[in-house]
Amino acid sequence: MSKPADPRPLTLAVPKGRISKVLVPLLAQAGISAESLLGDDRRLVRESEDGRVRFLLLKPDDVPTYVEYGSADLGVVGRDTLLERNYELYQPVDLRIGLCRMAVAARVGARVPPVPRVATKYPRIAQKHFSACGMQAEVIFVQGSVELAPVTGLADLIVDLVETGSTLRENGLEERETICSISSLLVANRALFKLHHERIAPIVEALRRAVESNEQSGRGQHAKVAGAQK
Ligand code: PRP
Repeated sequence: MSKPADPRPLTLAVPKGRISKVLVPLLAQAGISAESLLGDDRRLVRESEDGRVRFLLLKPDDVPTYVEYGSADLGVVGRDTLLERNYELYQPVDLRIGLCRMAVAARVGARVPPVPRVATKYPRIAQKHFSACGMQAEVIFVQGSVELAPVTGLADLIVDLVETGSTLRENGLEERETICSISSLLVANRALFKLHHERIAPIVEALRRAVESNEQSGRGQHAKVAGAQK
């Protein structure tokens, strides 16, 4: 039986926000001109200059959902989002952009009780971390401005993304532990990757080569992606 033709251009789901500044040059290295992603307008669907690739602009947390359900072939997702929720996705390339870390922090010098309250946007990551350390913890979910929790007494600790450390410093907090490194990954819909391999695989490979060449030349790509990487 012949394969059904795919009527849409290759579709890449990308997170809205500052990651575009480092993603666009990386895509350019892979031969995809994505300048349209830098346009300051409200269009949620954009195209590469040659029309070969269609971009969906999404809230970072929604990128894996669009890829998992096949509305996009590929996506750019923070490892934090992938660790926090379960997705059935192929993860072919660590793009090494949006570099930061997941860390535990507390008020400078504060004593932490035996069963601390921990505020975080990442309850699963936090719970798993404390369980692995053999520590009990009461995990409290908050959406953002997490650093406020220890300052106001809502929590003893936070688990959050740290890049430069300035948000911690400016709120009188200090990093106590690093849980893991975070970066943005290229993810693919497993079924579409197989079905349209000849179309998707060359882009995946081009991105892999671009990342390898940047790593060899020591070009770091910070710039947070969002609440799951900005
Ligand atoms: C993220 C993160 C930290 C901050 C860390 O927040 O949640 O608050 O960046 O970056 P830094 O170490 O360079 O200071 P974001 O700006 O996305 O806002 P949010 O609190 O709404 O998530």
